[in-house]
Amino acid sequence: MAKKVKSSWTCTECGNTTGGWFGRCTSCGAWNTIVERTDAPSAPDRVVLSQGDDVGRVFRSTHAEDETKTKPRRTTSIRELDRVLGGGLVHGSVVLVGGPPGIGKSTLLLQACAGLAAGDATVLYASGEESVSQIADRASRLGAKHERLLLLAETRVESIVEATKSHAPDVLIIDSVQTIYSDLTEGLPGNVGQIRAVTAQLISYAKSSGVPVIMVGHVTKDGQLAGPRLLEHMVDAVLSFDGDEARALRMLRATKNRFGSTQELGVFEMTGDGLSPIENPSEAFLTQRDNAATGACVTSTLEGSRPLLLEVQALLGPSPGGSPRRTCVGADPARLAMLLAVLDRHAGLFAVDQDVFVNVAGGLKLTEPAADLAVLLAVASSHKRAPLPADLVALGEVGLTGELRAVPRVEARMAESHRLGYSTLLVPHARKRPKAPKGVRLVVCRTVAEALDAAFD
Ligand code: TYD
Ligand code: MG
Repeated sequence: MAKKVKSSWTCTECGNTTGGWFGRCTSCGAWNTIVERTDAPSAPDRVVLSQGDDVGRVFRSTHAEDETKTKPRRTTSIRELDRVLGGGLVHGSVVLVGGPPGIGKSTLLLQACAGLAAGDATVLYASGEESVSQIADRASRLGAKHERLLLLAETRVESIVEATKSHAPDVLIIDSVQTIYSDLTEGLPGNVGQIRAVTAQLISYAKSSGVPVIMVGHVTKDGQLAGPRLLEHMVDAVLSFDGDEARALRMLRATKNRFGSTQELGVFEMTGDGLSPIENPSEAFLTQRDNAATGACVTSTLEGSRPLLLEVQALLGPSPGGSPRRTCVGADPARLAMLLAVLDRHAGLFAVDQDVFVNVAGGLKLTEPAADLAVLLAVASSHKRAPLPADLVALGEVGLTGELRAVPRVEARMAESHRLGYSTLLVPHARKRPKAPKGVRLVVCRTVAEALDAAFD
């Protein structure tokens, strides 16, 4: 009698198990991702969390840290990277660094390796993309060569884990997860099953040995990490590395972090000697000029714990086609449409029939509603063909009734503005009037109309 084959249906995107075939996943809603598996889930998908004696034991939360002997974090000596990680690398954690090709992932990790090695850690850098001589060449250009930095060119995950047995690294780097394969699954490196199997083995290795693993992950054209979404659920932290190639600025932020905030931003500049951290990103994002320009307004946004100054630029022009265009770089077109409607209704400034271009200088994205007022003033400035005062920073969320809403942490933003020489702050009315630093003129406005009057006085 033939052996009964067990089958199960799972989604390749989110790992959801369904009772049978569906055109669309009942959990994540992805189309055509349900596949049949005709055996019990295979071993490569099972993650071993730890082989220590704390597995399966119940701890009191107040004593858990002492009893499980949690080790302090390891710093990479790249301050921007450590901050985005939440204060350094956590023992046994698995971090995925994603980003488009050529952005500098390998460079960043090689520099982190150098910092780790200088700090007494043995680092194994396993690459499936470059040969040892290529990595060594880059390491010597970056000044990253070190006794304790070990290089390995390998694409088989089992061989990499084997190599860790004889060399006992304190940190393992995998460049990149899409180029590594496992014997336990079929198919080419980079396919969904392979990425899952490789990641599961690396997680098991990290959790059972306590060695942190940093993996590079490629992203697809639309900026998503290539491979299953599940990859992001499996790892402890996902860092995304992107930037403005033309200006050599690179931004690193955590999109997921089990051990820290996802708000922190690390800013680097790509130079001939690799990536160098930018300590004062506001200065990098502001356009250097002496006089105020028409259609430009400076605002302060919060990136994690740090306030950052940036310039919003707007240009209005007659729309030849009759259906005006809204082109935004770094701003949300839907939000812009709303601001144009508010300008029309509550400030008598009709710009809805014009082509509107909005650009955030430096390649950063505006995510906070607190930047609304700056976008609105930049648009108004271009419309009126009148510059705003050169020392002005505008803060405030704009509501549909034309009111200005309070924004969080005004004082921190004011301090940063003051530090960079901006002395007039346009802020929304708040229950508690913020304390302005000496030499800063605070202009409190309740409505968009009041703010326009004050700005174009
Ligand atoms: P790389 O780290 O190889 O990118 P990724 O691993 O994300 O694909 O970076 C490659 C780019 O960085 C390449 O275009 C050259 C540039 N670069 C520098 O400008 N300076 C340097 O010191 C290094 C090492 C690279
Ligand atoms: Mg690379």
